[in-house]
Amino acid sequence: MANKLLLFALLLAFAPSLNAQQTDLITNIEGRNTTSLNGQWQVIIDPYESGYYDYRYQPSNNGFFKNAKPRTKSELIEYDFDSSGSLQVPGDWNTQTDQLFFYEGTVWYKKSFDFQRKPNTRLFVYFGAANYFADVYLNGQKIGQHEGGFTPFNFEITNLVRDTGNFLIVKVDNKRRRDAVPTLMTDWWNYGGLTRDVKLIETPTTFVHDYLIQLQKGSRNRISGYVKLTGEKLNQTVTVRIPEAGISKSFATDAHGFAAIDFNADLKLWSPENPKLYDVMIEAETDQVRDQIGFRSIETRGTEILLNGRPIFLRGVCIHEEAPLRGGRAYSREDARTLLGWAKELGANFVRLAHYPHNEFMIREADRLGIMVWSEIPVYWTIQWENPATLENARNQLSEVIARDKNRAAVVVWSVANETPLSDARLLFLKNLISYARSLDPGRLLSAAMERHYINDTTQMIDDPLGEYLDVLGCNEYVGWYDGLPEKADRLEWRSKYQKPLVMSEFGGDALYGNHGDALTRWTEEYQESIYQHQIEMLKKISFLRGTSPWILMDFRSPRRPLPRIQDYWNRKGLVSNRGERKKAFYVLQTWYRELANTR
Ligand code: GCU
Repeated sequence: MANKLLLFALLLAFAPSLNAQQTDLITNIEGRNTTSLNGQWQVIIDPYESGYYDYRYQPSNNGFFKNAKPRTKSELIEYDFDSSGSLQVPGDWNTQTDQLFFYEGTVWYKKSFDFQRKPNTRLFVYFGAANYFADVYLNGQKIGQHEGGFTPFNFEITNLVRDTGNFLIVKVDNKRRRDAVPTLMTDWWNYGGLTRDVKLIETPTTFVHDYLIQLQKGSRNRISGYVKLTGEKLNQTVTVRIPEAGISKSFATDAHGFAAIDFNADLKLWSPENPKLYDVMIEAETDQVRDQIGFRSIETRGTEILLNGRPIFLRGVCIHEEAPLRGGRAYSREDARTLLGWAKELGANFVRLAHYPHNEFMIREADRLGIMVWSEIPVYWTIQWENPATLENARNQLSEVIARDKNRAAVVVWSVANETPLSDARLLFLKNLISYARSLDPGRLLSAAMERHYINDTTQMIDDPLGEYLDVLGCNEYVGWYDGLPEKADRLEWRSKYQKPLVMSEFGGDALYGNHGDALTRWTEEYQESIYQHQIEMLKKISFLRGTSPWILMDFRSPRRPLPRIQDYWNRKGLVSNRGERKKAFYVLQTWYRELANTR
């Protein structure tokens, strides 16, 4: 055992150098010249992956990615995309047809398109997300693959695309694996498919590939970051302009197309009360990108969380990426507006987006609405801590979400884990993720939903060794649901080993909307209401509590919840039903949040 841990420690020691560079994700798709490939895609459902492997289970050179058609009456071709069914993209496959409701396996997607590329341009295909493993082909050629169901990726197709008759084929496999992230067991539905937008991005040959434009850590009037060009003409002058603030700053890029940017700026700061976003232009000689960026500082001091230098309480709620009203994986701006609108109605200034990166609309709407965001990667429950490939996968998901959202003022916390069991290997794994996140983005707070334990019948202790490496402590507790009855909270005291702020990142209980009874009858709105009443009194007594995000805003699907006529594969801990009906507990929390908004 000791040798294995030593070997793993050595591996981890060198891990940082494995891919220290940023992923080659193109930043800010919204501000680019794009063509949507959304809509109906032809699909082939392939549970035995016969479109990928031959009968000897060897990858075949003649798989479905060839999109072959019989050229003679005698030629044997045993598939045909164009006479097969179709699915809507973006969208999970599980809620589009009952046939695929429980399906976990491979589905092949095909999209045909024509594209006349302008001279002196490059072309990329961009996926907002594909759950879980995607093999991507264009015109019969493999252009890349991606692992992880909740982060974006793009591939260059400049030299492969033709004016007419292109066929983009994606093999999407959502089979769960022990070594994956997340691993086999989760309490959310494993929605499969091309779950977010698919776009073509046309850029100049040398373009603004990536940039970070945010306030320097701890500063409220100094912007620091970088601009990164990709292409042939890497030595250029790039200018960052914020017209409304009369700012125009130019920097020279080096031979790698990189320019560090650093300048004073007197700006209106972003906050929930005033979610100020500025139009920002990043201009190079060969390209320009426009973005909407808010500027705010976020830090901790002792047990305080400071937004723009002032102590703040995070009045939050957890949200799964479940589509409101229709169910299935949420993906649109409308979905985001509905969910965040309900959070606002609750009186929230904060949301914990569980347990994986949500779509970009969610983050951009939070930016616009003034809602702070806890963003998390799905290092959930019992990950394979000692598997270097699992670590690399988790690091990659972390770097992709940071690449996508690093310019969003709303995102204040990166969370690297949820409810992960104590062990040395786990701690090494998570420490690695934490230092990696800090290297990619020094400006935000790091957290995780950590372990806690009773030191006696009435005292909970937070001394998970992970706390040492975090800025904000996160804890999930279900006093009154998995742990005793609601009134148990009245007798509980909370202690922490750390002089750090605590966000109670989950608490709550299930209730079926419209199911009524006395406050001790499980599954009733009255029981859930009672949990919240007792919880809030307990939470008010915790001196280092600086935020709450109860579980959860809306009921969501889970394969672990089969109880007939109550759950029916829904986790019913929502304060709102999946049909948008507010449960009694919704108003208990709303009342408290209104009080807090007036006092803190
Ligand atoms: C856990 C977990 C959630 C889960 C919830 C529940 O704490 O983090 O993902 O859904 O509890 O049991 O409802």
